[in-house]
Amino acid sequence: MKRSTNLTLILSFTLLTFVMTAAVMVVWESLIRDPFFAWVERHYPGDEFRGTRYAIQQRVEHFAISVAVDLVVVTLLLRLISHQQRAIVESEGRYRSLFEHAGDGIGVASASDLRLTEVNNRFCDILGCAPHAAAGRDVREVVRTYAGGRRTDDLGRLLEAGEEGEAELVVERADGATQPVALSFSTLATEKERLIIFIVRDLSARRRLEAEREQMRQQLFQTAKLASLGELSAGVAHEINNPLNGVINFAQLLQDEGAARTDFERAMLDGIIEEGERIAGIVRGLLAFARHDEHHVGGVSFGEAVNSSLALFGRQLEKDGIRIETDVPEDLPPLRADRSRLRQVVLNMVSNAHHSLKSKGGDDRLFRISARLSERGGREFVRAEFYDNGVGIKGENLERVFDPFFTTRRDSGGTGLGLSISFGIIHEYGGTIRAESEPGEYARFIVELPVGGPEGASDGA
Ligand SMILES: Nc1ncnc2c1ncn2[C@@H]1O[C@H](COP(=O)(O)OP(=O)(O)OP(=O)(O)O)[C@@H](O)[C@H]1O
Ligand SMILES: [Mg+2]
Repeated sequence: MKRSTNLTLILSFTLLTFVMTAAVMVVWESLIRDPFFAWVERHYPGDEFRGTRYAIQQRVEHFAISVAVDLVVVTLLLRLISHQQRAIVESEGRYRSLFEHAGDGIGVASASDLRLTEVNNRFCDILGCAPHAAAGRDVREVVRTYAGGRRTDDLGRLLEAGEEGEAELVVERADGATQPVALSFSTLATEKERLIIFIVRDLSARRRLEAEREQMRQQLFQTAKLASLGELSAGVAHEINNPLNGVINFAQLLQDEGAARTDFERAMLDGIIEEGERIAGIVRGLLAFARHDEHHVGGVSFGEAVNSSLALFGRQLEKDGIRIETDVPEDLPPLRADRSRLRQVVLNMVSNAHHSLKSKGGDDRLFRISARLSERGGREFVRAEFYDNGVGIKGENLERVFDPFFTTRRDSGGTGLGLSISFGIIHEYGGTIRAESEPGEYARFIVELPVGGPEGASDGA
């Protein structure tokens, strides 16, 4: 393509030279030749200068024609070259700005030694390197792949596998942070050398979205599970409630009547009543779990729910040597929720942290409640965190703590309903709850409640 363009150029300029020579000759013949020859005749008259005259006339004629032709052709040639240069510079500028402003990172390396020759700004943004420092370095040094917490040679292997390829990798940025990226490369042969073009795309945002979607899926699954369990437990609880009340009342009657004759019988009656009350507590929990209609939704302050819960139970925690910290701004907007149900959520958090910290022991035991106003997708949320540095939650239990009846405290009277009831309440108000923990170190429950109530966040839950 290029060779044939050159041939066309040569042919056109040869033709142009012919045409220009003819044109200059016509001008010379018609306008200049006669006056010039006459001028020479005048200066070199007579036969003795015939030779000189002829020589002058011929040389000047040739000289003038060739200079005129050269001038025109060279001028045109120069103009053509400068036009083409301008076009090249413009196109180079266009491609450079495309390269620099591309949404993906682009790097070019020589295929022979894998050293980068050029990188765009985005490439360095993603990998956290300085553009001038990246050029000239081995691409495997700049794209430092990581897996399982240590350096790998995934990129080297990928490059060995073929002339092109793609993979999702985790890379370590120059500042030490790790970053998920999608990397693809292809090889390109130019006249001088073979180049490898790398395209790097930042996957953090996509990963975040995927994680959020997964969390949402889990929460929906949990909600559906709770809803069906709620119906079942409501039925069962109603059935148990009446006979249970009967048992407790009969035992109470026997006690009131002084029917027990021996200490043993008295202890038995106490036991029946006590255990009966315990079952009644569970039944109440089941009913609360299933009940959706008996609450009054209004503007409730989250801070007030925290304060009243701590007023009830804070003393007990302090008595056990537990430090309580609260960081709940007073000016948080009110939540559309039922006061007692919101308090129920907080109380269960306090009680769970209390149990966990008590069973851990030690000096520096902390329970902290903090809350902030946050925004997501244009909606405002109160984001609350319940943190304690107690025994934490084992990895395999982390997913199960919201399951009804899941408890690790069966011995000490846990029913395993606290968190599942809280989950149901929070979801009903359009919010979310999730748990994080490092076993043996801490447990953290993060609750997000939409300020506008469920309508404000129904699809975000
Ligand atoms: N702060 C915490 N630290 C460690 N483990 C926790 C914490 N909160 C909850 N858990 C774990 O989650 C389980 C379920 O908690 P949940 O509140 O649902 O039930 P429970 O506290 O066991 O019983 P209930 O609240 O019904 O009396 C607990 O048994 C415990 O194993
Ligand atoms: Mg509990």
